[in-house]
Amino acid sequence: MSDPSSTKVGPTEDEIRLFSFQVWSYKQGEAVSFLIHLGTRLGLFRQLRDSGAVSPAELAEYTGLHERWVLEWLRAMGAARLLVWHEDGRFELSSAGAAVLVDEDDSLFYAAGAFGAPMDPTLVDDLADAFRTGRGYPYDRQGPAGVHRTERMLGPWTRLALVPRILPSLEGVVEKLERGARVADVGCGAGVAVLAIARAFPASDVHGFDLSSNAVERARQLSAQNGVTNVTIHHVGATDLPDEPSFDLVLTLDCLHDMTRPDESIAAIRRAIKDDGTWLIKDIRAAPEARDNLANPMAALMYGFSITSCMSSALSEPGGAGLGTLGLHPGLLEELTRAAGFGTFVMHDFDEPANFYYEVRP
Ligand SMILES: C[S@@+](CC[C@H](N)C(=O)[O-])C[C@H]1O[C@@H](n2cnc3c(N)ncnc32)[C@H](O)[C@@H]1O
Repeated sequence: MSDPSSTKVGPTEDEIRLFSFQVWSYKQGEAVSFLIHLGTRLGLFRQLRDSGAVSPAELAEYTGLHERWVLEWLRAMGAARLLVWHEDGRFELSSAGAAVLVDEDDSLFYAAGAFGAPMDPTLVDDLADAFRTGRGYPYDRQGPAGVHRTERMLGPWTRLALVPRILPSLEGVVEKLERGARVADVGCGAGVAVLAIARAFPASDVHGFDLSSNAVERARQLSAQNGVTNVTIHHVGATDLPDEPSFDLVLTLDCLHDMTRPDESIAAIRRAIKDDGTWLIKDIRAAPEARDNLANPMAALMYGFSITSCMSSALSEPGGAGLGTLGLHPGLLEELTRAAGFGTFVMHDFDEPANFYYEVRP
């Protein structure tokens, strides 16, 4: 007998067509994503910003690239509606397009850094294995390219917003940094925040800590290239911070949810921070109920990042918590910090689409 409450009926052709379009649009996104990477790498978007509307021949001449390849790329970008494709055959990047695709040094909306080369096929093999074994890979498995990707994606916002916008909203922190404070950036990655603070506050002593040897190498290189002398980068995980309370400011930017044992990392931070110190946490805007993340138009992207990076890292050791990109919501974070003995927990929203910030003190 058929179930009378069942609403199951076969799909209409329109429904199938619509679903098919949705699926192919992700394939199109993959192709366009790669072309954005090439356009950035070859300086095509930058040249378009500087030249205004240009013909393919002009763009090829200005960039020293082959016209036929430039023409096809322009047509692809025009078809993707990222460039205006004029009736006379010229192509143009709008000023909004320049803010998102070119203006890395002054636009908080710069996003092109997030577009990289396709994923290493051996990592895809490891991911398929992870589904079978339960064990993910750590950040280091992504090689120097992984650090580069993170630096390009997260670095611009850190460079532009951390010192002028975020630190001044933390009680008493800028004054301490100006006088000379000890700072720890835990999970420092490529060291962009370390460098920004070291440059802005030369009297302060800035330490970066990261589990990844590739990250440590890049952070050391970045500090050396910029000639800062008040930076030390340590190849040390969050649970192995110095035991004595010696830091005035601790930062964990976009990394607590990547850690296998955030609870143990938080306990280590509590031991390492001074009693009058401040801990700045940046973590993803996540909802307590996973399904409520559907309100985030970028939720699928976040879950994708989770599988390829964040959750993988957080499951890279036996017993890993595996929180993942959208796993550390404000309520859980407050619970974890209070359990470790932190008394003050203040949430800040700097109108950054992907993250919340928290000011936590003992
Ligand atoms: C998404 S990246 C963020 C890097 C940097 N904070 C930024 O904002 O650009 C996460 C970093 O956390 C590091 N990480 C993961 N688990 C860690 C742990 N237990 N201790 C220290 N660093 C860790 C990774 O190696 C990686 O460099």
